[in-house]
Amino acid sequence: MNAAYVRLSDGIPVRIIAAIMLLLVTTTVNAAAILEGERMSPVQGREGMVVTSHFLATQAALEVLKKGGNAIDAAVTAAFSLAVIQPRSGNIAGGGFMLISSEQNDEVVAIDYREKAPSKATADMFLDEEGNADSQLSRYSHLAAGVPGTVAGLSLALEKYGTISLKEALVPAIHLAEKGFVVTPPFSDGLKEKETMLKKWESSAKIFYKPDGSFYEPGERFIQKDLAATLRRISEQGAKEFYEGKTAELLVAEMAKHDGLITMEDMKNYSPTIREPVQGTYRGYDIYSMSPPSSGGVHVVQILNMLEGYPIAEYGHNSAQTIHLMAEAMKLAYADRSFYLGDVDFIKVPLKGLTEKEYAATLRKTIDPEKAVPSNTIGKPQPYESNETTHFSIVDTFGNAVSNTYTINFSYGSGIVVEGAGFLLNNEMDDFSAKPGVPNAYGLIGGEANKIEPNKRMLSSMSPTIVKHQGENFLITGSPGGSRIITTTLQVIMNVIDHGLNIQSAVAAPRIHHQWLPDELRIEEGISVDTIKILQKKGHRVKQQEAMGAIQSIIIKDGMMYGGADPRKSTAQAAGF
Ligand code: DON
Repeated sequence: MNAAYVRLSDGIPVRIIAAIMLLLVTTTVNAAAILEGERMSPVQGREGMVVTSHFLATQAALEVLKKGGNAIDAAVTAAFSLAVIQPRSGNIAGGGFMLISSEQNDEVVAIDYREKAPSKATADMFLDEEGNADSQLSRYSHLAAGVPGTVAGLSLALEKYGTISLKEALVPAIHLAEKGFVVTPPFSDGLKEKETMLKKWESSAKIFYKPDGSFYEPGERFIQKDLAATLRRISEQGAKEFYEGKTAELLVAEMAKHDGLITMEDMKNYSPTIREPVQGTYRGYDIYSMSPPSSGGVHVVQILNMLEGYPIAEYGHNSAQTIHLMAEAMKLAYADRSFYLGDVDFIKVPLKGLTEKEYAATLRKTIDPEKAVPSNTIGKPQPYESNETTHFSIVDTFGNAVSNTYTINFSYGSGIVVEGAGFLLNNEMDDFSAKPGVPNAYGLIGGEANKIEPNKRMLSSMSPTIVKHQGENFLITGSPGGSRIITTTLQVIMNVIDHGLNIQSAVAAPRIHHQWLPDELRIEEGISVDTIKILQKKGHRVKQQEAMGAIQSIIIKDGMMYGGADPRKSTAQAAGF
């Protein structure tokens, strides 16, 4: 026991000790709580900060930073760990985007490791005999899988920008797969919820359920032997193993057995691409976000450009006027998305035009500050995405920041585990427009620019973003949430820049979303009834639905790092040192 306590208690009545203790506790809490004048405190650090959707991934990545690794080393470690502990979104057979900012080199690069359509893919591959789009095929069959990019993307990141080997980055993931980890309530609930989808496939059932078909309950240990063996092969033979070795053979055999399209050739030919991020400015801050084949960066910048013309801070956080203007700007951007956005390796995207201030000014003129413009007067519709993805943000002491979002699209992707390899296949092919110009299963329409073509990348909304201020990394952010990713990211940027919220408050604040079609303003719980009434008066169809996104973010200010994990994911954790 601490001697000071012993001395303090000598002769002092217990009541007084309790009062002193209470005072001490309150002081500590208050000291943290008044940080930047907010009720919610971010996690703080000076040398490194990691924010992911799972505490085990946060801890694995933080260890890397503590040992002197950089943010890229930590990011790759986190991504492989998430593939083991969070199979609903973490993956080795999906794809994603990683933004890396180096203050020292004064550069921000984007690694595009998005999946590609197999070479045998065709524009009408998801149409039935009557020519209707078959969502079962595009989401839950072997045809739903794009050629995976994750392993190649992570390995490229490490080779070019990291300091540790792939083998080192894989150590925690292999350990978590081999020795297992303790099941959390969300892990157990997720598998219960998707029982029908996952048990449809023998290869998936035996991984995610006990031999008698019963569930893994919270507190039990979950071991993945096949996945551990796959990760070991990659660790020993490098990323090439995944694309040309036994793992590729297992994946291709799975395809051949179930009429899938991915061949050994497709696997061998997959390569990630280093791209220039989309760049914009907002009230003196420099915005870097993901370029096509993601629509994310373009529309984050485009919406910010439109909103820069209004005194948003004066209108107030989540006031009816602010929400109205955000919704109107969102509609216009999402309408453009359906016309213009697709894989830049296949089509020409007018990137410069879409992100220019002048274009935003023209669009702004069509916004009525008092009335909602009906979506059907704006243009043609676009597809809707949903379900599961995961984002993490990491900064190190060397001036590097990583913003990474990766996905297998839906929760547990297509639900199909590759027999003998222990990992789930993505269903990213559903992000293409199954039938351009014709309503899909949701009554929505996709664009010609995003039709299926061999080896093409499907359009994404993932928006890993890094905001710099006067040349220094300032805000690192990004989210899952399908079409809501763009608006979620946008609101955290605005919460920080316009409304001065600290990062934890910015991440937690209730969000809104409009994606042009359906013509409805989606809100989370927490927007006041008065505000909703004003919005309805302005002509908005307001719909309160479940929480949107899970935005894991970091701010760096005056040499301090502040992490904000999104409370919408109960396993999310920010940790710094
Ligand atoms: O790339 C995209 O935009 C989608 N496949 C992302 C899906 C997603 O975020 C689901 N997550 N909650």
